[in-house]
Amino acid sequence: MSNFRRPLQDAFLLLEAIFDKPFGPEWNPFRQMGTLAFFFFWVAAVSGIYIYILFDTSVAEAYQSIEYMTYEQWYLGGIMRSLHRYASDAMVVTAALHMSREFIFDRYRDVRWFTWFTGVPILWFLYTSGISGYWLVWDQLAQYVAIGSMEWLDWLGIFGEPVANNFLTRGSLTDRFFTLLIFMHIFAPLILLFIMWIHVMRVAQPKINPPRGLALGSLLMLVVLALVKPAVSHAPADLGTTPTDLNLDWYYMLFYPVFDKLGPGALWGLAIGISFLIASLPWLPPLRRPKAAMVTLDQCNGCTRCFNDCPFGAVTMQPRTDGRPYEQEAIVNPKLCTSCGICVGACPTSTPFRHSDMLVTGIDLPDFPLAKVRAKFNKAIESARQAEGPSILIVGCDHGVDTRSHESAGVASAKLPCIGMLPPSFIDYALGRDGADGMIVTGCRDCDCFSRLGIRWTEDRLAGARDPYLRKRVPRERLKVQWAGRTDGVTLDQAIEAFRGELTALDEAEAAAKETGGTSLAGETTPAAGGAE
Ligand code: HEM
Ligand code: SF4
Ligand code: SF4
Repeated sequence: MSNFRRPLQDAFLLLEAIFDKPFGPEWNPFRQMGTLAFFFFWVAAVSGIYIYILFDTSVAEAYQSIEYMTYEQWYLGGIMRSLHRYASDAMVVTAALHMSREFIFDRYRDVRWFTWFTGVPILWFLYTSGISGYWLVWDQLAQYVAIGSMEWLDWLGIFGEPVANNFLTRGSLTDRFFTLLIFMHIFAPLILLFIMWIHVMRVAQPKINPPRGLALGSLLMLVVLALVKPAVSHAPADLGTTPTDLNLDWYYMLFYPVFDKLGPGALWGLAIGISFLIASLPWLPPLRRPKAAMVTLDQCNGCTRCFNDCPFGAVTMQPRTDGRPYEQEAIVNPKLCTSCGICVGACPTSTPFRHSDMLVTGIDLPDFPLAKVRAKFNKAIESARQAEGPSILIVGCDHGVDTRSHESAGVASAKLPCIGMLPPSFIDYALGRDGADGMIVTGCRDCDCFSRLGIRWTEDRLAGARDPYLRKRVPRERLKVQWAGRTDGVTLDQAIEAFRGELTALDEAEAAAKETGGTSLAGETTPAAGGAE
């Protein structure tokens, strides 16, 4: 990880930990910035449709029609106007935070380049949509912003006659030109929506909508803001004067003072330069990652689990090519694969209950094969069992809490690229005969999996809601799930201590039951060697 990113990550993790307390991991707004931006788009769209119904599209009446909805119909038109403005502002804030977060947590390079890259036109159309909306109020702010924008466009010299000429004198702005401005404000958000759709096109199973409660809470917050501080206009536009005392919307208009100071050429240079810089970040420097996942055809039965679980759409199913009696086979597109290993955790052939030279799975990571995972498990379990008291195996991932720094007498760990690489049969194996007394599964913070779906699929597999299931015979009381981010070492320490106590109590209860000839509390913990998932 680049060094400069680490303090920024720590700051974000700290902030998010604070928000985790009242909101919980799923509703934490910091983890929902992309979905919230989508939600605010819809709020702006619906409120926009309503205010357009009340809006008079002529230059002479536009201002008055907005005054009418603000003051006469404040209870609906006024609220809708404020919702429209505040939701648009909220889109800028959420998009900026979402972009910063993806950058800071290094979720924009390699296969993610496309999603990042399409974020740049999103920013352009978001700004075009917001700024063009301000023109329609046709007050003094609209006058300032419209003239500034047109002079900026004129600098390119692509229009035969300067468009800023439409604002030269009182009466020079025609209804025809004003209608053009209105069209711009309708088309820019439509194009924005289209690019937002392209933006998530390559994200497998993208999360587009925020949790319902968070969406309702955000809407309520905007309504309260609309009532407490309703959006109002400046004095009506007057092309015979130059507006001076303006209350700029800093979310959208931060570039206008730069324009006033530096002129159109410098602002074009700045806007295009920043856009190019942002767009090229995924290659500065490009991410080097291990080799892509590979399918071993004679182990693949075409079950589609890897296809369903891959968070990056890197697996496709195709008609069988080897004549075996299955309809389909999996194939990996190396250009889309992040080597997260989630497909390996999904494959029914990923079972450790095999003879060592036979541990070949349907799909595997060439640089981190499942045989190596089993060897790591064996080594860690052996080391944990050396100490007195319960032995604990912690399995973590490359992006969450550093499990190695929590090893101690009786506690050993193994790391995977993503916790989603863990096939449930490995838990069965680790807690079986000659295994550990307990196992802790950890990874990134809850709802914040670096590989997007690793935590979700792991929880579903453990709960028996998704193939491959954790077998019934696995003693659940000897398994603990504790999600913990890179800075959550204390949380993991506390979980280890509490778990150690629980395991000691379990062992004592089992020993007592054995002495009195009763049945074991933990149930059958010895897997039949060679049993498959
Ligand atoms: C209106 C503005 C935006 C909206 C509504 C939006 C929405 C989304 C959504 C819904 C996702 C999918 C999240 C998931 O399911 O994992 C996403 C992913 C992403 N977005 Fe945006 N986004 C916006 C702007 C941007 C911008 C400006 C950038 C950067 C230039 C950006 C960069 C990314 C990246 C890199 C991902 C991929 C994350 C991953 O694969 O883990 N987004 N966005
Ligand atoms: S390693 Fe990850 S990205 Fe690659 S195919 Fe498997 S699940 Fe998909
Ligand atoms: S999960 Fe394994 S068996 Fe199923 S399609 Fe993928 S590689 Fe083949």
